[in-house]
Amino acid sequence: MNHEDISRSLAARGTVRTLRQPEELPLLRDHLLRLDRDSRYDRFHGFMDDSFIERYAEKCADDGTVVIAYIEGGVVRGAAELHPPDQSPDSLPEIAFSVEACVRRQGVGSILFRKLIAEARSKGYHSLRITTGVQNQAMRALANKFGAHLTFRHGESTGNIDLTAQPQPEPVKPAIVTPADLARAMIGFNRAYWKLLLRMYGWGRTA
Ligand SMILES: CC(C)(COP(=O)(O)OP(=O)(O)OC[C@H]1O[C@@H](n2cnc3c(N)ncnc32)[C@H](O)[C@@H]1OP(=O)(O)O)[C@@H](O)C(=O)NCCC(=O)NCCS
Repeated sequence: MNHEDISRSLAARGTVRTLRQPEELPLLRDHLLRLDRDSRYDRFHGFMDDSFIERYAEKCADDGTVVIAYIEGGVVRGAAELHPPDQSPDSLPEIAFSVEACVRRQGVGSILFRKLIAEARSKGYHSLRITTGVQNQAMRALANKFGAHLTFRHGESTGNIDLTAQPQPEPVKPAIVTPADLARAMIGFNRAYWKLLLRMYGWGRTA
């Protein structure tokens, strides 16, 4: 099966759209809770227990985080998070991704990334930051694909994505994934979590 065939089959199965706040955020929670052990480790830098994930999703529901989801049959199977800039010390919006194993390597992460960039541009952001574990080859590949220049430090790789250097976005609309979206997508832990974590446990500067 070539990339275009894979894209068409995804388009037939799922949609990509922004979750409504706060009522649809339980869908994010349930998605994150379905991640397997290794994925949780990669996604949350080692924080893997259910109660952490439940609190994390609750926090996202009321702190202005935008969640763009890949949805199949009413179930969120992939998510891209755009955290508000005020959660990072240098006011850069942080982003993060998660795709369940059953739909990986089919372009879902790429579709979500593309939509997230369009959303960030519509908010007037000029740059985004992504942080992931050095060992996380999948996320590094995905970030590189969208122009992140990752640098390595203390077991993390961090990269900024300069939105002014990207091609003009498609208009942001409540998205039904079209074969064209998917075809384009096929071609093409971050500090916010630490901040969220610190706030959740009452250790943060702004807690
Ligand atoms: C990282 C993640 C979101 C990628 O999602 P995905 O839907 O599989 O991504 P895509 O199918 O769009 O693949 C994107 C690119 O990464 C590459 N890639 C994906 N998985 C890879 C892997 N395990 N090793 C090497 N490259 C990989 C793909 O080949 C693709 O490149 P291409 O288009 O040039 O072929 C997914 O693996 C995941 O959720 N991991 C666990 C959570 C996590 O690590 N989150 C990151 C913290 S911010």
